[in-house]
Amino acid sequence: MDTHQLGPTLVKTFPSTYGDIYLGDVREGLNTIIEAFSPSSLIVVADTHTHHFCFPLLEGLPDTSVIIIEAGEPHKTIESCEKIWSSLLASGTDRSSLLLNLGGGMICDLGGFAAACYKRGIRFGHIPTSLLAMTDAAIGGKTGINHQDFKNLVGRFEFPVLTWVDPVFLKTLPEKEVLTGLAEVVKHAIIGSAELLDILMQTKSVAQLPWEEVIAHSIRVKQRVVESDPFEKGVRKTLNFGHTLGHAFESHFLLTDHPLSHGQAVTLGMMAELQIALALGILKNEEFERIIALIMRWLPPSEVNLPSLKTVAGWLEGDKKRSGGKVGFSLPDQIGSCQWDVHVEPHQIEHSLNWLAAHLRDV
Ligand SMILES: NC(=O)c1ccc[n+]([C@@H]2O[C@H](COP(=O)([O-])OP(=O)(O)OC[C@H]3O[C@@H](n4cnc5c(N)ncnc54)[C@H](O)[C@@H]3O)[C@@H](O)[C@H]2O)c1
Repeated sequence: MDTHQLGPTLVKTFPSTYGDIYLGDVREGLNTIIEAFSPSSLIVVADTHTHHFCFPLLEGLPDTSVIIIEAGEPHKTIESCEKIWSSLLASGTDRSSLLLNLGGGMICDLGGFAAACYKRGIRFGHIPTSLLAMTDAAIGGKTGINHQDFKNLVGRFEFPVLTWVDPVFLKTLPEKEVLTGLAEVVKHAIIGSAELLDILMQTKSVAQLPWEEVIAHSIRVKQRVVESDPFEKGVRKTLNFGHTLGHAFESHFLLTDHPLSHGQAVTLGMMAELQIALALGILKNEEFERIIALIMRWLPPSEVNLPSLKTVAGWLEGDKKRSGGKVGFSLPDQIGSCQWDVHVEPHQIEHSLNWLAAHLRDV
């Protein structure tokens, strides 16, 4: 990470072959960066919420057209893409234009995909507005849309030319969404940054979190992993920690009267997978205890009726078919480091489910 004087502000920069990331005051430096790309036109894609809350903070952008998509995951679809493509056509967007995605992970994924396909690809940038997008979705070049019941079924690896992160947007982000993002931040600390874990350990409440520092550490973890394995052949799979069982939990509870948020499901997934790492002798007990204490403090899970091993195995089998291979687990071996493609036997999953159920009863 470097620091950079852009106009009156000092901005943190994360130079990358896959598009530079800037962390700082969006009102000061963004225009300078945009000018450097000399776009023939500028288009902002936002959702209804980010248009209302975040677009007004982009003061002084050059002449810009805005495309507004309904907020929410159900709108990450081909129909929304068509709306974007029609608007781009109507406003005369050409291959020298620059499209900026102003939103959470939904808009970054959707707008990035729409830009990557329009006229065989126009340049795009991300201005992530949710914590999850700032630390995760906007970094790493995955773009895409959902199709039928499958998340991100259609998509491309396509990298933005710039990503501008400003924690100011968090001021209007609903608390539930902050917690979802925090689950990914905690995951990044566990798999890649003992320093970030220490900051989280030492901070008492969300209100006291040093956001800029927390986001910078989290970006660094994701960026480091992506740079060494952009197309997910190896180490990038460590980002799946907590998500193997987390997806099974999320899918299961979606069919009940008590669906879990993505963050809640990943939290339970991380806890169960940590227990597997402990049982396999991959993770030492003292580190296990330390991480579980951190999770209980930042993301305390409520008691839920966990699905049976049979149900979980069914969802894992579905994942396996979709990915065309085996389901390998990503398991931390110490704070700040993680293994991937670990084979886990069904009885070990069952043991972790029993441990998690007992742990949730005790809190
Ligand atoms: N590409 C990747 O690598 C990657 C990684 C993780 C997740 N994702 C994707 O990200 C999506 C989830 O992202 P998300 O959690 O940001 O959801 P989201 O984009 O749907 O945002 C959540 C809600 O917060 C609102 N919002 C966002 N920023 C706001 C702000 N500053 N003020 C007020 N409201 C605001 C949104 O309008 C929405 O209602 C999923 O589609 C997931 O598949 C992608």
